[in-house]
Amino acid sequence: MKTVQVLDKKFSLSISEKEIQEAITKLADRINEDLKNQDVIFLGILNGAFLFAADLFRQINFDCQISFLKVASYVGTSQSGTVKRLIGINEDIYNKTVVILEDIIDTGTTMENLIKQLLGYEPKQILIATFLFKPDAFLKNYDIHYIGMKIPNEFIVGYGLDYNGFGRNLKDIYTLIKE
Ligand code: IMP
Ligand code: MG
Repeated sequence: MKTVQVLDKKFSLSISEKEIQEAITKLADRINEDLKNQDVIFLGILNGAFLFAADLFRQINFDCQISFLKVASYVGTSQSGTVKRLIGINEDIYNKTVVILEDIIDTGTTMENLIKQLLGYEPKQILIATFLFKPDAFLKNYDIHYIGMKIPNEFIVGYGLDYNGFGRNLKDIYTLIKE
């Protein structure tokens, strides 16, 4: 079992770089087919989604735009319960198809808050593309249009996801080993 240490915690390999890239290719194929005739702006959510956004965006084959927003809700391995405000919404999303690119949807609180704020800018529609989804942790009932992979309700790091700011540069995804 391949393990890594991030700060004070040990994690074991759960999703390889190859599996990650295959899932992203499948997502990109669907988005290319579904949205090719629309006026699309992708909105990547920093920091976690920067790698996913870059890898997915490279595989989009129609004319479109991308921008990045920042929100944060996590402190350490448990939720802080507070969702911070949106930073960086300076791109015109009015009347456009917005595709939110998120690294992971856990309880769904961050995304719900984001959607509420974005609706105020009157986009044509908002679609959600998340690389990872924890169905057993999800507490909301909105649609998630594009999901790369469903994962168990466990804490993970790597591929943009962090533990207290570290581990984002791991190429694979690792799951916390409970002591
Ligand atoms: P939610 O509001 O509970 O859906 O949490 C979403 C945010 O929490 C994500 O954008 C991530 O930044 C963070 N998050 C959720 N689960 C994990 C995890 O397993 N590892 C690292 N960050 C996570
Ligand atoms: Mg995030």
